[in-house]
Amino acid sequence: MSSQNNNAELKLDGKSYSLPVIEGTEGERAFDISALRAQTGHITMDDGYGNTGSCLSKITFIDGETGILRYRGIPIEELAEKSTFVEVAHLLIMGRLPIRAELRRFSVVLTRYEMLHEDMKFHFEGFPATAHPMAMLSSMINAASCFYPELLEPESDDFEIEAARLLSQVRTIAAFSYRKSRGLPIIYPKPSYKYTANFLHMMFSEPYQDYELNPEVVRALDLIFLLHADHEQNCSTATVRMVASSKANLFASSAAGVCALWGPLHGGANQAVLEMLNEIHKAGDDGSRFVAAAKDKKSGKRLMGFGHRIYRNYDPRAKIIKKACDDLLAKLKRSDPLLDIAKHLEQVALSDPYFVERKLYPNVDFYSGIIMRAIGIPLEMFTVIFAIGRMPGWIANYREVNEDPNSRIYRPRQIYMGATQNPYVPIDERS
Ligand code: CMC
Repeated sequence: MSSQNNNAELKLDGKSYSLPVIEGTEGERAFDISALRAQTGHITMDDGYGNTGSCLSKITFIDGETGILRYRGIPIEELAEKSTFVEVAHLLIMGRLPIRAELRRFSVVLTRYEMLHEDMKFHFEGFPATAHPMAMLSSMINAASCFYPELLEPESDDFEIEAARLLSQVRTIAAFSYRKSRGLPIIYPKPSYKYTANFLHMMFSEPYQDYELNPEVVRALDLIFLLHADHEQNCSTATVRMVASSKANLFASSAAGVCALWGPLHGGANQAVLEMLNEIHKAGDDGSRFVAAAKDKKSGKRLMGFGHRIYRNYDPRAKIIKKACDDLLAKLKRSDPLLDIAKHLEQVALSDPYFVERKLYPNVDFYSGIIMRAIGIPLEMFTVIFAIGRMPGWIANYREVNEDPNSRIYRPRQIYMGATQNPYVPIDERS
């Protein structure tokens, strides 16, 4: 295959085919193969989609080689320092940073929709106490759509309202799921509280006593939400787009995203990192046994919180989180042996040829759990926190699919490797 004048030439079976080359605003280039099968009878094969661009998007840019992440063009470092989760949610969903009046309106709408329909409480009652909060979260996001039949009418609602309702309610559902899993009474949201403070209130207040909000804690959790807000075509976002492409509603598409996020190779890694650090701590090991196991393919273990499909460099979010982790523990005047283990593990891994050669660096999940632990968020809620944070990205991607006039249902092909034609054998004649 060769590339010339924005067209690549493919030579196949003595014939030559011209494939247009698409170039993104940051110089990333792709061969447009949408006509390939019609022209050549061939499809492309790309296990795990490592080389497949599934869409054109204007939301998030990542350069994994140099460790760059930008939301709508704005570097993550600047947003982390100067912005808030709600402002970033507006940026991602609406496409621009809000002016004051827009931010006020967005906050008012978030507050207006923070309450769940009262009948949703009966759904929570149906879950066993042992239910994982991620299972409850995805089920309840779907259940919420039953209470808003207008969602089932395509394009019948104001998108900003629909988006704000989901963004607001995911936080209420998440906190209710936690309270339910602990057998604690549900705490309703407080309209006077801002987004993240309100979540902490619903998690930790008691009917007889309000949780004392520490601004450092609120800021640290807000930062975690913000850093998770979008990450282009990761497994859960690609899932949301896939479901959205069938014209399923926003709640159904996002509930599918929650399910995809749950896995330990994706959002579930933050829980797995803490479990790993705890295991090392309990064993009184310095982590070298775990690192050795992670390098041994037969062990089935991986160094959780390390490695990334896109980053072949330090994940820029991990740098920010590591510093935030140190800052928060210092401000709370606490130390955590798990932080020391994590830092030691990082040091060991980054000087080990196995990790160096494969360009495996800490990712966003490596230090986030230690912040959440310091805040008092229980282990089983870690991935739920990731889901709340990722919601603006899912909503923005859902919107992009829906507003694209050329959007078609997502439908990959396959190369069939199964049995060739077989006769049906009646049950009594089968061996
Ligand atoms: N520990 C040990 N070896 C690893 C690790 C790890 N954490 N990650 C990758 N490798 C090895 C892998 O075995 C392979 O080795 P070889 O070339 O000898 O076969 C090589 O590095 C390339 O890995 P890969 O599996 O082809 O990479 P991938 O792009 O398919 O997977 C990943 C990316 C994130 C799933 C993987 O790095 C991993 O499992 N990491 C641990 C789980 C984790 O922290 N996930 C959170 C990702 S960041 C948050 C998010 O986006 O969800």
